[in-house]
Amino acid sequence: MVDQADPKVERIGEYAIDAVHLTKKIGQRVAFDDLSFQVQYGEVFGFLGPNGAGKTTTVRTLGTLLAPTSGSANVVGIELNSQNSVEIRSRISIMPESPGLYNRLSVEENLECFADLYMLKDAKEQISVSLEAVNLSSRRNDLCGTLSKGLRQRVGLARALLNDPKLLFLDEPTSGLDPIAALEVHELIINLKQRGVTIFLTTHRLDEAEKLCDRVAILNTTLKMIGRTNDLRNNMFAKSMIVKTLNALESPAAVFEDIEGVTSWEKSSDGSFSLNVTSVESVAPNVTRALVKAGADVIFIGEAHHSLEDVYLEIVGADGGGNK
Ligand SMILES: Nc1ncnc2c1ncn2[C@@H]1O[C@H](COP(=O)(O)OP(=O)(O)OP(=O)(O)O)[C@@H](O)[C@H]1O
Ligand SMILES: [Mg+2]
Repeated sequence: MVDQADPKVERIGEYAIDAVHLTKKIGQRVAFDDLSFQVQYGEVFGFLGPNGAGKTTTVRTLGTLLAPTSGSANVVGIELNSQNSVEIRSRISIMPESPGLYNRLSVEENLECFADLYMLKDAKEQISVSLEAVNLSSRRNDLCGTLSKGLRQRVGLARALLNDPKLLFLDEPTSGLDPIAALEVHELIINLKQRGVTIFLTTHRLDEAEKLCDRVAILNTTLKMIGRTNDLRNNMFAKSMIVKTLNALESPAAVFEDIEGVTSWEKSSDGSFSLNVTSVESVAPNVTRALVKAGADVIFIGEAHHSLEDVYLEIVGADGGGNK
């Protein structure tokens, strides 16, 4: 979890992001509506939602590239408005889904161009530090046009690190990457967090969000849910246990209905049983005793685990899936 007292995390204001009733309309279309949430300094914050949910537009708005239609926000402690854009941008960075690179220039030349654009004073040093951070120092002279998708993604990340951001927006950084390349990006994200960078991560990979994020928000134009993954699943799903026996139980109702703390039970298609319970810790011993008393050969008894995917499907599915 986020260490509030971590001295590596540089803070201006209380939150890295503080959005209040933020809304963006593009023409007649509402890209996102009435978003109010905070991102704490030092956390990896996951931003999930179906295609067209408004994730990229939120990133672009909080990243000062688009003006909100209404509502307000503070980004790295600075009020989001056109006068403050330059100041905010000097402290944040956005890595867009596809990093726009000049294919005929080398990795290093690309970074030099962007360092010029950002008017970095210590460009040479920052380029070296950024290349080092993404393990690309040995590829600095390669033409960007010759790089694989994963390597291009890493150049994009190096580019986003040039200004040593306190807050980094990553828009689907592992989209289209193979599992090993995606793992490398995960490690880079973990390293950045350890260095004190706050990360706002949009992703469609729920396993990635579950692994990397301190908290997640689920968006579908409006904010559907926000919290720690564990809390979300505990709040959404009844506590339940799975029981498997070697041979079919003769009379499962007689076994389960009298156990204190078992509120309901059902047989699954694979012959195992799913029990809703008031508390796994206090009810599991009762279940074990009842099964032994009934002469059952127990081969598994344990807590049913709901994944972030279950939470997501429950929320986005109930919402009718993607909306655009
Ligand atoms: N420049 C634009 N002009 C018109 N509509 C736009 C524009 N940018 C975004 N939108 C619309 O706003 C909505 C939100 O788009 P956005 O790109 O933010 O979604 P997203 O959550 O990032 O989706 P994805 O997962 O596909 O990347 C969509 O309906 C999209 O078509
Ligand atoms: Mg997007």
